[in-house]
Amino acid sequence: MDAVQAPIIPIVGELIRTTPGTISLGQGMVSWGPPPEAVEAARDAAAAWATHRYGAVEGDSRLLDVLRRKLRDENGLDLSRSRVLVTTGSNMAFQSVVQAISQPGDEIVLPAPFYFNHEMAVRIAGCTPVIVPTDRSYQLDLDRLAAALSPRTRAIVTVSPNNPTGAVYPEAALRAVNELCAARGIFHIADEAYEYFTYDGAEHFSPGSLPGASSHTISLYSLSKAYGFAGWRVGYAVVPVTINEALYKVQDTVLICPPIVCQTAATAALTIGRAWCAPQVERLAAVRQEVLALFRQIPEHCDVPVPGGAFYCLPRLRTRLPAMTMMERLVREHRVAVIAGDTFGATDGCYLRVSFGALEGKAVHEGMERLIGGIRALTNAD
Ligand SMILES: Cc1ncc(COP(=O)(O)O)c(C=O)c1O
Repeated sequence: MDAVQAPIIPIVGELIRTTPGTISLGQGMVSWGPPPEAVEAARDAAAAWATHRYGAVEGDSRLLDVLRRKLRDENGLDLSRSRVLVTTGSNMAFQSVVQAISQPGDEIVLPAPFYFNHEMAVRIAGCTPVIVPTDRSYQLDLDRLAAALSPRTRAIVTVSPNNPTGAVYPEAALRAVNELCAARGIFHIADEAYEYFTYDGAEHFSPGSLPGASSHTISLYSLSKAYGFAGWRVGYAVVPVTINEALYKVQDTVLICPPIVCQTAATAALTIGRAWCAPQVERLAAVRQEVLALFRQIPEHCDVPVPGGAFYCLPRLRTRLPAMTMMERLVREHRVAVIAGDTFGATDGCYLRVSFGALEGKAVHEGMERLIGGIRALTNAD
C-alpha cells in the first residue's frame, strides 16, 4: 500500500475546511440529486422485509432487467455472451474487475492523464499501471498504446468521456483500441461513467457494441453522475462470461450483495431513464460555455483543450510552479479549490483539473472569477 498514492479528495477537503468561504471546483459531482421517484421508492423499500435480508450476489433481478434493456437499446450491446453485475459504484466494479482478470505483477495500460482511482486500484491489486501519454488534445495515441503492450499486459483502459480531461474519444479510436485488444488477447475496459455528458455534437460510443467485442470487452457504468446518485453507490458492469466466475468470487467476498434499498431506488431512476437526465446535462452545457469563455480571457496564462464531454477541463498553465503548490495557493490566497494534475499522472507541467459539475448560478461565475484571477496572479508572480 506504500506504493499507492494518497487519495487527493480528502487532502483538498481539509484545505477547504481550513479556508472558510472557499468555492470548490474540486470533487467530480453534479449539483442535482436523484429523481424524486427514486427517493420515494427507497422510502417504500425501507418498510419491506426483503430490504433487510441478503440479496442476490449479482444484483436484484428487477434492476438487472431494466439494465439489460438499457444496455441493448442505448448502448447497442449484445448481451448473449456477457453478464451484467450490479456493484456499489463503478469504482468498485473497476477494482473487482482488475482483481478478476490479473495476477500480481501483471500490467494494465492506462492512457494519461488517468482517473486516479484506476491507477490506485491497479496498484492495490499488486499490478503495474503502464502509463501511456495522450496527445496535446488529450486524445489517444494508438501507436504508443500498441507499443506499451507486453506479455504481461492484461488490459487497456479507456475512459470516454474522460475524467480528468473531458475528452470524448471518437468511435474510430475506440474501435482501434478494441481491435488491438482482441488481436493481443487482452481485455478492453471501457469506463462509461459519463456516457450522457457530451456537448457540441460530440457523441458517446460504447466499444462493447462492436461485433465480436463481447468476448474481451468490459463495460463499466455508474448512476453517480447522470442520476445524482453519488452517495447511493450504484454502478454496474458488463463482463464476458469467461470472467464471471472470478468476479462473483470477489463480489461475494467483498460485498455479498449490493444494498437492496439502493437497488430499489436505482430501478425507479432507470425506469424513468435518460429523458430525466437530459435537461440536467443541458443546464451543465451552459455552465461549460461560461467556463470556457472565462478561460479564453487568459490565453497567455494557460492553454485549455476544449472538453467535448463530462464536466471537467484540464488547463495547462504557463508557469514553473508545481501544480500541488498552485492548488494550495489557489485555496489559501484565492479561496477556490481545484485538483493538481499530478494526481492524474499529468506530470510534465502544471495542470489543474477544474470540475464544474456541482456549480449553479452565481457560484459558477464567482468560482471561475476567483480561479481566473488566481491563475493570473500566480503565473505572473513566478
Ligand atoms: C471515470 C470515473 N469512473 C468512475 C467513477 C466513480 O463512479 P462511482 O461513483 O460509480 O464509483 C468516477 C468518479 O468520479 C469517474 O470519474
